[in-house]
Amino acid sequence: MSNEMSRGEFLSRGWKTGAALIGVAGVWTSWDVLQPILTGGLGGVIKTVPPDEVPQDSALFVRAAQSYLTKIDDDIVALSQRCPHLGCRVAWCEPSGEFECACHGSTFNRAGEVRGGPAPRGMDRFVVDPAGEVVEVDTGTIVKGASAGSDETINEPRRGDSCSHA
Ligand code: FES
Repeated sequence: MSNEMSRGEFLSRGWKTGAALIGVAGVWTSWDVLQPILTGGLGGVIKTVPPDEVPQDSALFVRAAQSYLTKIDDDIVALSQRCPHLGCRVAWCEPSGEFECACHGSTFNRAGEVRGGPAPRGMDRFVVDPAGEVVEVDTGTIVKGASAGSDETINEPRRGDSCSHA
């Protein structure tokens, strides 16, 4: 009789211990999957492409840095993809040679300066370090774009048709 009690007690404890271990494993796994990725993510420094791959007359989208790389004169700049109006993704349009926001029609020249639409300022820039083998974009350091109506710093008239109304 006492042997049966011991066996029942043993099984009961075994089940409780197993259930507790499964619970701990579940919490551990969930945290591992759901915890924010901070190292190297947006808000940090992103390694992109070699400096000579950054175009002089176009814009290269770098998804990891959520920005476009281009050269203004010989300086590499990183323009945030977030429209300074309400935050939609701005797209580069090769035929027009402009950035275009499909949400409310803001347009920007290749330097990210406002050409039209409701955007109150030009596209924001991230600080870049072009000195290494690859361009590093510091997505935690933002330089606000120039106010709408400011003079353009590059002389690149619109090339052709817009991509938004094709
Ligand atoms: Fe880009 Fe409104 S969000 S124009």
